[in-house]
Amino acid sequence: MHRRTFLTGLAGLVVAGPAAAQMKHDMGGMGGHGNHTMPMTGANPVLPEGQPLKALPRLSNQSAAPGMFRAELAAEPGFVRFAEGLDTPVLLYNGANPVIEAYEGDKVEVSFRNGIPFEPTTIHWHGMPVPADQDGNPSDPVAAGSERIYAFDLPQGSAASYWFHPHPHGLTAEQVYRGLAGIFIVKPKSDPIPPEYGDTILMLTDLRIGADGTMPESTMIDLMNGRVGDHVLVNGQKNPAMTFALGEKRRLRLFNATNARFLRLRFENASMTVIGTDGGLIESPVAVDELLLTPAERVELIVSFDKPGAARLTTLDYERGWMGPGKPNEAGMVLLTANVSEQAVAAMPPLPAKLRSIGPLGKPAVTRRFVLTESMGGMDHGGMPMQGMDHANKSMSSGGMEMKFLINGASFDMNRIDEVSKAGQVELWEIVNEADMDHPFHVHGTQFQIVEHEKDGKITTPPYRAWKDTANIVAGATVRILLRQDMPGPRMYHCHILEHEQLGMMGTIDVRA
Ligand code: C2O
Ligand code: CU
Ligand code: CU
Repeated sequence: MHRRTFLTGLAGLVVAGPAAAQMKHDMGGMGGHGNHTMPMTGANPVLPEGQPLKALPRLSNQSAAPGMFRAELAAEPGFVRFAEGLDTPVLLYNGANPVIEAYEGDKVEVSFRNGIPFEPTTIHWHGMPVPADQDGNPSDPVAAGSERIYAFDLPQGSAASYWFHPHPHGLTAEQVYRGLAGIFIVKPKSDPIPPEYGDTILMLTDLRIGADGTMPESTMIDLMNGRVGDHVLVNGQKNPAMTFALGEKRRLRLFNATNARFLRLRFENASMTVIGTDGGLIESPVAVDELLLTPAERVELIVSFDKPGAARLTTLDYERGWMGPGKPNEAGMVLLTANVSEQAVAAMPPLPAKLRSIGPLGKPAVTRRFVLTESMGGMDHGGMPMQGMDHANKSMSSGGMEMKFLINGASFDMNRIDEVSKAGQVELWEIVNEADMDHPFHVHGTQFQIVEHEKDGKITTPPYRAWKDTANIVAGATVRILLRQDMPGPRMYHCHILEHEQLGMMGTIDVRA
């Protein structure tokens, strides 16, 4: 039976016990977190819009020594007032989503304390070239109430927009949607972008809260598609406002820190120029009309506000292969409103035509192939009945429903090494998406270059060379990337829809010296 047929029949499933209660909840919630198809019980909280954009708090450097960044971070429960009169219980780093800003060549030392009751956690430095044992792997948990120090150096050439988030085994998706994430900006000693453009962080997150202000548990639909919320927030605010003079140019860094939201973005009444990707600046600026920012991806833009009035950052529809009911209406969300005055700004310096050079990685010594598949509801992708359907299964299941997201037929196992490679070796990875959904594929510990995309026999190459740590693999497509790991140790690669990562779509490559 085909997956879609199966899911359409989902409402007819007979289940008993706690699974039944969960299913009822899921069915009731399906319309509620999409766009208003089925009313939820109680009113959905309304979030204030149009308030001035707030900057995320900066984590201050406690070291006076040059070339050293030292700070303390604690992961702890807290409350945030997203909606009038409602305090939402969340998890935060130092009571916020803080920004760490350091320079190429700096040594970094973060003393971390896990203040989350009863749950292990880690800090993973997404996209950063940090040693494997400092990278917050699931195999290096920090137990509730314990502390550890994360220490690493920021090499020359590492300037980029990174972020950090928890990565504990089986708890990543939940700890992230509950709020744990922060931004890590590595700055170069000399920056080609004119300082007059400013440097604004826009951290995009996705929030779902119920009538009482709390975050509901994830439903089966959330587990299948990844958890998508009701409100996409910028620095924790819904549709915040910024003010500019006519003709102003601004440097904006966008971070998709959502669990699973595909953001196809456009700036109405303003023009966007891409200057950087996950791993920092590209070689020359590229003007774009729109861009797709999938979970965990970042982009650096120069936005020119050349028309007076409201310039809005909005979303367009994107077909990413939603399974089952409750597909959110992705189009037409207003994420940010820039109010552009009639008054023209004094002339702004031009954006340089050349930003930096990105060398080619060279010839690969090895090729590896990673095939992404989904298996659903006791049926595998091709419709063959799966063995063990009646068994108690350690993967997520509800009433006989079982969902697995696999790489090369295997579900993540912390005690298994999937691939072995050599430090310093250039590799070609071929990531084949045989599933019906897009999967944003991420590799720890390094930045890669996309060589080409292939779909239905048609090959396309990226319009410009760029450093990436996450690349969307469109359903049915193959993406080839070149990469090199310079430091030994185990590294994860996985789908960055965090629910998929948690349901098995992750593997370990052991890089040996
Ligand atoms: Cu954003 Cu495994 O990471
Ligand atoms: Cu990562
Ligand atoms: Cu996925």
